[in-house]
Amino acid sequence: MRILVTGGAGYIGSHTCLELLESGYEVVVVDNLCNSNMESLRRVQDLTGKTVRFYEGDVRDEELLRKIFAENQIDCCIHFAGLKAVGESVAQPWRYYDNNLNATIVLTKVMQEVGMQNLIFSSSATVYTEGNPMPLRETARTGGCTNPYGWTKYMTEQILMDLCRAEKAWSVCLLRYFNPIGAHKSGMIGEDPQGIPNNLMPYVTQVAVGRREQLSVFGNDYDTHDGTGVRDYIHVVDLAKGHVAAVKYVMNHTGCEAFNLGTGTGYSVLDLVNTFQQVNNISVPYRITDRRPGDLAVCYAAPDKSAELLGWKAEKNLADMCRDAWNWQSKNPKGYQ
Ligand code: NAD
Ligand code: UD1
Repeated sequence: MRILVTGGAGYIGSHTCLELLESGYEVVVVDNLCNSNMESLRRVQDLTGKTVRFYEGDVRDEELLRKIFAENQIDCCIHFAGLKAVGESVAQPWRYYDNNLNATIVLTKVMQEVGMQNLIFSSSATVYTEGNPMPLRETARTGGCTNPYGWTKYMTEQILMDLCRAEKAWSVCLLRYFNPIGAHKSGMIGEDPQGIPNNLMPYVTQVAVGRREQLSVFGNDYDTHDGTGVRDYIHVVDLAKGHVAAVKYVMNHTGCEAFNLGTGTGYSVLDLVNTFQQVNNISVPYRITDRRPGDLAVCYAAPDKSAELLGWKAEKNLADMCRDAWNWQSKNPKGYQ
């Protein structure tokens, strides 16, 4: 079976390509490399001893997509390609709506033309409305997003739900990721953010490796066990395996289904920093600063639906995530460069 992976050179995409190849799937990637490096896929090939067929280009390029579908018998598509920086989306809303929405519209249009209607979409826990009870179930309220990035995920979910209502042959999984961190155990592939990291773990690893002076912990006055924000961190390899499970699901169902990909356990910023220091025996200097606007106190998943319907469950713990994130960063202090 052959899977088209859009955005396959990126952080989650490269880990998913590796898991797909290890599970016996053939992989075709389309990526414009706007936030990634071909080196990730070279390393995936080295690690697996298998080949990825790569097309450099934009998912919004209809002719390119037609060519890819004409040259490859595709059975299912995993759609990662998108821009993901929350702050940047506030500053450049048009660019985010154009890239993230049009990529999905062009992709599904060409899929409809060629009659290949199995799709897995990278959504986010950010689609859930603030104020829902924890843990978040897939039935919790969505919308009311606080930034254009979040709205692109919400709107794309809506587009895909409407598509499935109108066209009964479609099968779509909306995978709502919680907080992916960590790296493949080899330390050969990992997260390589451009510029100053927005997310916690890449900031922590860059402090540990000496690229940044200290971590800012955004607030210690939340209503949590130690006052710092609580999140559902999930190992990127577990997340990647969730996609392999979703491929099996979409191939055997029709309609549109949302799934949480999280562990179901929340850890605070200080839990993560302390575990990181302990398991890696390295210090991460930090200071407490003001809260970051838009941040929630607590966010974690109810992963039961994914366990029941996808037969998937996260297996790695916070110590594994911290160890593997450091293994990647210490072996690649400057990322893929
Ligand atoms: P990433 O930036 O590492 O990967 C995205 C890839 O898509 C990159 O390789 C980029 O070059 C490519 N891309 C972007 N726009 C494209 C376009 N128009 N055409 C072709 N390629 C394009 O990000 P990631 O962390 O691997 O995230 C993958 C997906 O998961 C994204 O859609 C992101 O919004 C979503 N997501 C990520 C997180 C997270 O914490 N990393 C959380 C929730 C959802
Ligand atoms: C953020 C985005 C979310 C996106 C997700 C994955 C915001 C408001 N939300 O989620 O839309 O889906 O990333 O890309 O940006 N923290 C620090 N210091 C730091 C960085 C983070 O203390 O330097 C804290 C945060 O306050 C939070 C936790 O660490 O409590 C996790 O933050 P982060 O990794 O940015 O993820 P989210 O805020 O959950």
